[in-house]
Amino acid sequence: MNRLTGKSCVVTGGGAGIGAAIAARLAAEGAQVAVGDIDGDAAGRVTQQLRERGSDAFAVQVDVSVPAQVSDLVSAAAERFGRLTTIVNNAGVAVPGSVEDISENDWDRVLAVNLKGVWAGMRYAVPHLRSAGGGSIVNMASAQALVGFPGWAGYAATKGAIVALTQQAAVEYGPEQIRVNCLAPGTIMTPLNEQIFRTAPDPQALIEDWNSAHALQRFGESDEVASAAAFLVSDDSSFVTGTCLRVDGGLSILGPTGRAN
Ligand SMILES: NC(=O)c1ccc[n+]([C@@H]2O[C@H](COP(=O)([O-])OP(=O)(O)OC[C@H]3O[C@@H](n4cnc5c(N)ncnc54)[C@H](O)[C@@H]3O)[C@@H](O)[C@H]2O)c1
Repeated sequence: MNRLTGKSCVVTGGGAGIGAAIAARLAAEGAQVAVGDIDGDAAGRVTQQLRERGSDAFAVQVDVSVPAQVSDLVSAAAERFGRLTTIVNNAGVAVPGSVEDISENDWDRVLAVNLKGVWAGMRYAVPHLRSAGGGSIVNMASAQALVGFPGWAGYAATKGAIVALTQQAAVEYGPEQIRVNCLAPGTIMTPLNEQIFRTAPDPQALIEDWNSAHALQRFGESDEVASAAAFLVSDDSSFVTGTCLRVDGGLSILGPTGRAN
């Protein structure tokens, strides 16, 4: 497959989980990929695998909550690849807490990583995408932007804001042929969720409960989000902008009688 030959991409949070799957999928379809992650070793391991498969990929340690570091990541990718056509703003953290329970520090942290990080990615990528004559931005929202889950006030706020920010950027940069879309995954088994299950009092019961919250009665796989990301990066989605593509197995549309248990 070489649907993405000629695309040069940055993927944030590409050291694990959904971001690693996206980096692998974009590279497999022919894109050049810069993987940014706060865990530089993890990003390095991912890009090593991509290079072993013949792709042009490199890693950068970056904290997306620090805009200057995001600027450096984007510049490094544009310099290395000669231009930049794509950024996937995927990095995010799951910080729990209800409206009353979340601490001010946790609130500030989840907004800084999940929301400021997405803004910074777009802020610094857009000039390069403009120079390339257009491009595609994919932001990582969540089904939690669309439906409420008790105990995730700050996280949900960031994901809802990403949907609005995506639309905003899509109208700002549409005239320059820069498409901006976001993905809203349901529950995907990644290190982020493995951590939640490890610390649950009854992990199996929680897994079964979450499975049944999806119309498809199961979790999703990172590869299933990666294929949706590849579509939004590719020219197959050339008339798609400002959309929030649900990759959620029906999580956000399941009515109260739809659960299996
Ligand atoms: N897993 C799910 O069920 C799910 C569902 C909906 C949305 N999402 C979203 O998908 C994205 C990826 O989630 P995941 O499950 O793969 O998470 P993960 O925790 O498995 O991986 C996230 C990656 O981001 C990196 N990261 C964390 N903070 C960073 C920072 N400040 N700067 C740079 N990199 C940083 C981590 O080191 C890690 O490699 C997140 O935005 C998350 O909110 C996940």
